[in-house]
Amino acid sequence: MTENPQISGSYWLQTAPGADRPALTEDLSVDVAVVGAGIAGLSTARELARAGRSVAVLEAGRIAAGVTGHTTAKLTALHTLIYDRLRRTRGAEGARLYAHSQSEAVEHVAAVAEELGVDCEWERRSAYTYACDAGRVEELRAEARAAREAGLPASFVTETGLPFPVAGAVRVTGQAQFHPRKYLLALADDLAARGGLLYENTAVLGLDEGEPCRLATEPGATVTARDVVVATHYPIFDRALLFTRLSPRRELVIAGPVEADRDPDGMYITPDEGTRSVRTAPYGEGRRLLVVTGEHFTPGTGDTRSRFDDLSSWARAHFPGVSLTHAWATQDNDSTDTVPLVGPLHPGARHTYVATGFGGWGLSGGVMAGSLLTDLITGRPCAWSELYDPRRLRSTVREAPSFLRHQAKVARHFVGDRLRPAPPLESLPPGEGAVVRVDGHHLAVYRDEDGTPHAVSARCTHLGCLVAFNSAERAWECPCHGSRFAPSGKVIQGPATRPLEQRDL
Ligand SMILES: Cc1cc2nc3c(=O)[nH]c(=O)nc-3n(C[C@H](O)[C@H](O)[C@H](O)COP(=O)(O)OP(=O)(O)OC[C@H]3O[C@@H](n4cnc5c(N)ncnc54)[C@H](O)[C@@H]3O)c2cc1C
Ligand code: FES
Repeated sequence: MTENPQISGSYWLQTAPGADRPALTEDLSVDVAVVGAGIAGLSTARELARAGRSVAVLEAGRIAAGVTGHTTAKLTALHTLIYDRLRRTRGAEGARLYAHSQSEAVEHVAAVAEELGVDCEWERRSAYTYACDAGRVEELRAEARAAREAGLPASFVTETGLPFPVAGAVRVTGQAQFHPRKYLLALADDLAARGGLLYENTAVLGLDEGEPCRLATEPGATVTARDVVVATHYPIFDRALLFTRLSPRRELVIAGPVEADRDPDGMYITPDEGTRSVRTAPYGEGRRLLVVTGEHFTPGTGDTRSRFDDLSSWARAHFPGVSLTHAWATQDNDSTDTVPLVGPLHPGARHTYVATGFGGWGLSGGVMAGSLLTDLITGRPCAWSELYDPRRLRSTVREAPSFLRHQAKVARHFVGDRLRPAPPLESLPPGEGAVVRVDGHHLAVYRDEDGTPHAVSARCTHLGCLVAFNSAERAWECPCHGSRFAPSGKVIQGPATRPLEQRDL
């Protein structure tokens, strides 16, 4: 039997490690501070530097190593099924603006890659949304029609390059795929060449919204800036209760070499039960296949290892001979009305901005956010600022079902997880973690490989839900808004900014 790949970390990070950048150690004053160096933050920072602003990027970890460093890196305006829905919820003009803004982002990356002369494995490909379930054909036809009316080169087809028959597919030609880190490391170099400042291992912990704004960072320096962009994926500052409109979902990715003649020659995704996304990337004489999860799931729930096994079996069944070398996991946030939230941070915000809720399509979305936020900060008009404005009124009809579903899920975790029976500490094997109850307190206990138990508080430092252990990735995960912590309690991914508190057993 072929071995399934061990969780190895992202192929993109391994093939483009990049040089270290310094941490911020002294106070600083700039026109704009950008918090978070994923594709949204770096694109925004580079556009602002081009517009003549002094910019500092503050990154808690390493640049382009968050969700952007773990993605599948398709650059397309075809976002599974969105145009038929947008046409109904935001009108024909809303759908057209969405298509235009996302297509412009794809072409923007093409132009920047050429301008910087970066070899980022750029390839033009058609994007497909396919279904094997014949019951979805009408939905696909409607999507193809709506996408075409929105201005995309879209058509309904029944033939694809996939190695199995499909009931139908929406095809949009002229889209692209690339190596996200090779592109963003070059973008960061260009930003630095334009005088932009980039700091790694510099977590932002506090925001004082004044004129100017002040940011408190760890290890301790203060950044003063006229404008602040919060591009931390899930917003770490949230005065507009955006967390009620964002739902995190975790996905798994596997990758490995296949022979060139197995290349399905396109970028594929399906809305069928057990969603799978497929593409290949250049790899010597052959290709490297990337396949994304069969199902999306809430962080902190379910057995990640068995999900990886299912995904590997699917890849081997459909791409015989694939040698799976990489496996990793990451997560994105869906907004309740499926349109990203990009613009002022809250209704009273004068100098603070946010970019989030990309719903699995934040590569074109993050580049679009960079241009949109630059327009807002520099006072230039932007045709789609209203479409993405986070202050847009929540339509009770439009958003109510997904809003209520999300809130019910959070409430279920907040209350239900506290009532779940806790396993006895003695039964915890090495390398495993569990939430146990000691003297009425919930403790998150991890037993290391030497058998020594380590305890932290099980209360997530964001809003207090109970974390759960993901044994495949050895991390504490919060099911409410997706914060992730190392076994030691250190923050891996926000919205939490503070570690889980240390506890004595
Ligand atoms: C499996 C998977 C596949 C995907 N595939 C595609 C695809 O093919 N095409 C597509 O368009 N989209 C895709 N997406 C979505 C896309 O990858 C994301 O939407 C996008 O990368 C998000 O970029 P970002 O800049 O918002 O976040 P990130 O890349 O996560 O950047 C945010 C940064 O903020 C930093 N940060 C957090 N807190 C702090 C703090 N307190 N102080 C300082 N810094 C902080 C983080 O360390 C991180 O580096 C995929 C998503 C998933 C889950
Ligand atoms: S992420 Fe919000 S409570 Fe944990």
